[in-house]
Amino acid sequence: MKLSLKDKWVLITGASSGFGAAAARAFGAEGAKLLLGARRVDRLRKTASESKKSGATTAHFHELDVSRTSSVENFVGWARKKIGRQSLHVLVNNAGGAHGVDTVADGKDADWEAMLQSNVLGVLRVTRAALPLLARDAGASILNLGSVAGHAAYEGGAVYCAAKAGELQITRALRLELLGTGIRVGTVDPGLAETEFSIVRFKGDAAKAKKVYAGMNPLTAADIAEILVWIASRPAHVNIDELIVKPVDQAAIGKVFRRRTT
Ligand SMILES: NC(=O)c1ccc[n+]([C@@H]2O[C@H](COP(=O)([O-])OP(=O)(O)OC[C@H]3O[C@@H](n4cnc5c(N)ncnc54)[C@H](OP(=O)(O)O)[C@@H]3O)[C@@H](O)[C@H]2O)c1
Repeated sequence: MKLSLKDKWVLITGASSGFGAAAARAFGAEGAKLLLGARRVDRLRKTASESKKSGATTAHFHELDVSRTSSVENFVGWARKKIGRQSLHVLVNNAGGAHGVDTVADGKDADWEAMLQSNVLGVLRVTRAALPLLARDAGASILNLGSVAGHAAYEGGAVYCAAKAGELQITRALRLELLGTGIRVGTVDPGLAETEFSIVRFKGDAAKAKKVYAGMNPLTAADIAEILVWIASRPAHVNIDELIVKPVDQAAIGKVFRRRTT
């Protein structure tokens, strides 16, 4: 039987845009209680307000930079106070992204460090801090956002691919470590999805970002959010381990069908 998310606490990192913001609205529509984090607090405020309109029982937000342990500890301490004597039911480790498309030969330290900090160390830090809050034997879930980049390499993607391959292995190790707790652990690994992902990757160049999706039908943030809700609402004994989700127009990372080129 479907597990109800009504009045369950759901913590989402990277809730200021893209998948995270859409997930907040989608879990909100199930009547969940939300704890939202990201660096852009003004954008979190907007997500929280939209989530309440879509049905969230409550939606709190707080500044979070997953690349700093002190920020993560501070954020989870804040979350603990909001939850009180209740438990966390869903942790969505979504904060992350790609920075640049340089080859290894031309790579920039700042880009490499940002990718490993958010996609790898951020997942570890948030999970370590939030684990004591997660309910045991009640269908609680840790849902990590991976990528098709964690499954196959491409030129200009060495560090993003390494980071998402790291996320995949962390997810797998965590599932082994949490055996017996009843906490479910899974990863959702999307292909091309039109969010702010490419704008960040191309450092604000919107025209370059748009080209990534030219002439094809990419996934939307809502597509991924719906899947996250579906996973968390499976019966408590069901674990969705790993889910690769691609647009029909993308058969593989570099193999995209484009109806037109602009
Ligand atoms: N879109 C795609 O094609 C695609 C495909 C596969 C996987 N993914 C993965 O899906 C996740 C969400 O990406 P998206 O597509 O929704 O992109 P997005 O619209 O750029 O959203 C990324 C989110 O991550 C947050 N974030 C980034 N660094 C952070 C940090 N250090 N601390 C806290 N929050 C941070 C951002 O918030 P602030 O900037 O406000 O902090 C933002 O809310 C990422 O892990 C990404 O790698 C995306």
